[in-house]
Amino acid sequence: MKALTYHGSKDVRVETVPDPRIVEPDDILLRVTATAICGSDLHIYRGKIPMMESGDILGHEFMGIVEETGPAVTRVRSGDRVVVPFTISCGQCFFCHRKLFAACETTNPDRGAIINKKSTRPGAALFGYSHLYGGIPGGQAEYVRVPKANVGPLVIPDSGLEDKQVLFLSDILPTGYMAAINAAIGKGSSVAIFGAGPVGLMAAASARLLGAERIFMVDHHPYRLEFARHAYGVEPLNFDEVDDAANEIIDRMDGRGVDASIDAVGFEAKGSAVETALTAVKLEGSSGASIRQAIAATRRGGAISAPGVYAGWIHGFLFGDVFEKGLSIKGGQTHAQNYMPQLLEHIAKGDLHPEAIISHTMPLEQAAQGYEIFEKKQQDCRKVVLTPTH
Ligand SMILES: NC(=O)c1ccc[n+]([C@@H]2O[C@H](COP(=O)([O-])OP(=O)(O)OC[C@H]3O[C@@H](n4cnc5c(N)ncnc54)[C@H](O)[C@@H]3O)[C@@H](O)[C@H]2O)c1
Ligand SMILES: [Zn+2]
Ligand SMILES: [Zn+2]
Repeated sequence: MKALTYHGSKDVRVETVPDPRIVEPDDILLRVTATAICGSDLHIYRGKIPMMESGDILGHEFMGIVEETGPAVTRVRSGDRVVVPFTISCGQCFFCHRKLFAACETTNPDRGAIINKKSTRPGAALFGYSHLYGGIPGGQAEYVRVPKANVGPLVIPDSGLEDKQVLFLSDILPTGYMAAINAAIGKGSSVAIFGAGPVGLMAAASARLLGAERIFMVDHHPYRLEFARHAYGVEPLNFDEVDDAANEIIDRMDGRGVDASIDAVGFEAKGSAVETALTAVKLEGSSGASIRQAIAATRRGGAISAPGVYAGWIHGFLFGDVFEKGLSIKGGQTHAQNYMPQLLEHIAKGDLHPEAIISHTMPLEQAAQGYEIFEKKQQDCRKVVLTPTH
């Protein structure tokens, strides 16, 4: 089959690789009909994720038709159309019982990314996300093996919903939604979202759904900010133009700040030349440019929600300000399985239109070009969907 494989920084290729097959009794084989490139894939693409091997198949946002099922699979049948969450969870362990699916402690044989981990077990394995997270072949491919098929895949009923409407249930829609929940967004809330990429946009859509009154959105790509203003009624702030976006938000919020901030940028945040340089030579784990702004923009007693991926330490992380302001912080990989069914209902009812953010749909064969366009923000790229042709 054809699949998108990793060969090093900025070097991904669509190649012919061996077809996947059922290995465990609760596996399914999926014929992929649509798959997307995630901002998390860009961390890999830029060579920032350790433990990648040449030839690894990328992709953790995908859906398709069940081609074959292992003998222990009861939840789906051949021919079902399913969306698959990016975290692989067993459904049986301490964390799965608490619906903390991304913390599943049985599926990842590798070490995960915690630095001071002591003897804790790693969180869930992820599709297509390095040999820190299980080295599981991803779904930017014609076919993919899906482990734990009685827990992950969500069947899409025959109700006329197109792939593009439901594909983002695999990751960015639950991620934006969980980010809004972690930010305790409710009726009348004010929120600042840092990052107007797909995750920030899904967070804005979710914040609206949950009743947010004011949404500020910070980025430096005018086309992304303009889309968010138009689609979700955000107040855009371009950090290349506004001297200090957090201060501007505080000024517009009676000198207090917003109820909550969502950091949808993560460890590659732009804005601090020093941190960017230190991170490049591995003297710094993450750039703190975005999380510092999020902490600064939030009022006392408020919440910080961080769907953006962080890795390791940040020297400029102002925990004293978090303490002084009495902020709560939540982050982490999304417990996608927990939110997929309710979000599917919202899509079916017409409350959510995640497909609106798609700017590029291209055949899987052109995936390498898709990565380049998305990474360089060319052609006003917001989100790339790849369709295998089989
Ligand atoms: N927690 C999860 O489970 C989960 C799931 C999906 C994605 N993610 C993470 O979410 C983050 C965003 O993903 P995406 O798909 O939207 O990626 P993206 O790269 O398309 O978007 C990131 C945006 O942040 C902007 N940005 C950079 N520095 C900034 C700063 N200092 N302040 C404000 N904006 C800044 C960029 O211009 C860009 O538009 C990534 O770190 C990704 O890995 C996490
Ligand atoms: Zn993702
Ligand atoms: Zn589990």
